[in-house]
Amino acid sequence: MLPQKLQIRVCSVISLAVLNACSGQVSKKPEALTTTKIDQPSALLNEQQIAKKLANNNLLPQAKWSAFSAGNALTPPMGWNSWNAFHTRIDEQKLLSAAQNLIDYGLADLGYRYINIDDGWWLKREQQTQALVVRSSIFPSSLIEPEGTAAEKTSFKPIVDKIHQLGLKAGIYTDIGQYSCSQAWNLSSPNLPEGSQRERQVGLYGHINKDIPLFFEKWGFDYIKVDACGLTFYDKDRPTTKEYDYQAFEPYIDFENINRTKIDKVTDLYETLSTALVKANPDNDFVYAICNWGTANVRAWGKNLSNQWRTSGDLIPTWSRLLHNFDSAVSRAIYAGPGTWNDPDMLIVGKGEFDENHLVEAKSHFTLWSMINAPLLIGYDITKLSDELVNIISNPDLISFNQDPAGHQAVLAYTSDDIQILVKTLNKRGEKAVALFNRGLTPLTVQLTAEHLKMAADKNILLQDVWQDLENITFKNETEFHLKPRQTLAFKVTGTPELATGMYLSELPGQINVAEDGITALRPDPNVHRMIDMLTNSTRISSRGYYAGWGGPRLDSTVYDENIRLDGQYYPNGVSVLANSRLEVKNLQGFNHFSATVGLDDSSLAKNSPVVFAVYADGKKVKQTPALRFNDKPLKITADIKQAKLIELVAYTLDHAQLPSVVAWADAKLY
Ligand code: GLA
Repeated sequence: MLPQKLQIRVCSVISLAVLNACSGQVSKKPEALTTTKIDQPSALLNEQQIAKKLANNNLLPQAKWSAFSAGNALTPPMGWNSWNAFHTRIDEQKLLSAAQNLIDYGLADLGYRYINIDDGWWLKREQQTQALVVRSSIFPSSLIEPEGTAAEKTSFKPIVDKIHQLGLKAGIYTDIGQYSCSQAWNLSSPNLPEGSQRERQVGLYGHINKDIPLFFEKWGFDYIKVDACGLTFYDKDRPTTKEYDYQAFEPYIDFENINRTKIDKVTDLYETLSTALVKANPDNDFVYAICNWGTANVRAWGKNLSNQWRTSGDLIPTWSRLLHNFDSAVSRAIYAGPGTWNDPDMLIVGKGEFDENHLVEAKSHFTLWSMINAPLLIGYDITKLSDELVNIISNPDLISFNQDPAGHQAVLAYTSDDIQILVKTLNKRGEKAVALFNRGLTPLTVQLTAEHLKMAADKNILLQDVWQDLENITFKNETEFHLKPRQTLAFKVTGTPELATGMYLSELPGQINVAEDGITALRPDPNVHRMIDMLTNSTRISSRGYYAGWGGPRLDSTVYDENIRLDGQYYPNGVSVLANSRLEVKNLQGFNHFSATVGLDDSSLAKNSPVVFAVYADGKKVKQTPALRFNDKPLKITADIKQAKLIELVAYTLDHAQLPSVVAWADAKLY
């Protein structure tokens, strides 16, 4: 009989047909639940079926980078946003002083340049023109005409112009549904849209082609944040829908359940918006920020449509919530790169457990966000920040890591619930950034090795402390640090790359695009810290995994967060992905060769499925393996890629196995 833990795991991966057997008590015939039953060899596909499978599943090489490449976000956007500071109590003066403060505090020179208005700016949607009206009582300069309809009288242009005159950029906020978030959640706000049911429909739903030209062509904004409350919180049975006479909307998004979320409808809307934004911005000077809080599997498709996408719910100023938001993005390095960023939410330095009495936590927050290439949007009244806090968000080294042009998000070189080590490849060969993160309340000792850094162990490695608390450190092979509770140490690293003439793919996440991830059944990622929800405490349902994405490709780890192992051997370097996947790799360095050791990972759920690995260079097949099964020896492959611009790595099964095959491109490198 299987140990109970294993039974649970098996139950959680089997198909619906046998799910009933798993729902109740422990089965009397546990052998029926072992993976072997559903992992019988299934019939092999013939040539024609294989060709069809590759074509239908987007597994054929496309010879082009398919992630979103429009917009002005080659490095993570930096700036200020009104929400964490003021919620809906926003006004012109607060906005313009925030802009002036960015300049006066030297923050603009460091790269903070977006001044983003969040929720609370609108008065209503004028019915005769369907145009939006600015709440001019709080934005006096928006009143441009004494005559005309309400919408004709107001415009954000004068305020946007003032922001531009300061050398900064301006951002606007909206919702992809009919209503905004404050209309569902901030009901005591003085600045909620007013008027009839229709006048209060200020969101984009049904109005994309009206509102987007207004925001960008007429008013001149440069950035848009697009929330999703309108698709989520206006159910006919929700008390506020009736009480506030909102038009009911059958939710597309179920915040807590991916199966009940209408992913296609959500993506359709965000895609329509993506197209409208490109059209309204011929100069390409825009940033498109999706804010649907990690729902609807956006962690996988956000990069196809937008410049940044929220990977989690709102960050609130507690340590537990910080861990949650950080975890939602940290294992997703392969999804981010120049122009497309994981967004664990805006900075909350200055508040709660990140205020001047919590400098260790505030430093950790800023370090972690910088390392994982999060957009850096200050959410505080800057004049009220202590000098120490201003210094934290001004740290030039961390900002340079975050803004490094190569755009590689840090990868976890070591992980545990206590300590994590994050390593970020910088643009200049031989330079990296490393962060050692103590997640808990126990002081801990941490070893940093040359292997973590993928640097030659027998050559000197130089570490420069970004906070300048420690003298420069030179070491070979391994060194050791003591971390205080919740402390994050961060260093700029200079050393000799482990690969004399190349790089591991897992050092280059910004150059990889996940064209197909091979996931067939969406499941929440159980690896995200489960914080207590401050809105409901423990009175409501338990805190569980929220965000789909479990099984997505990972670097230096398997898709299910195990160490990469082929045939019993551990590989510290590699890309793991499910079979029936395609990865696009930009060969920006003009390398000539690709090599990897490929096979089914020891953690693979399917063991009887044959998997073929193929490598394409600019669309031409340069390598294909014979079918490999679980017990086959891994195969070392090399491919001549002759400076091709785009390499594609395809792994596909030759059958219709029910269980997913975990594969590894271990030691994958370009050289
Ligand atoms: C949502 C977003 C926040 C903020 C508010 C505004 O909660 O996630 O960042 O924009 O809406 O109401």
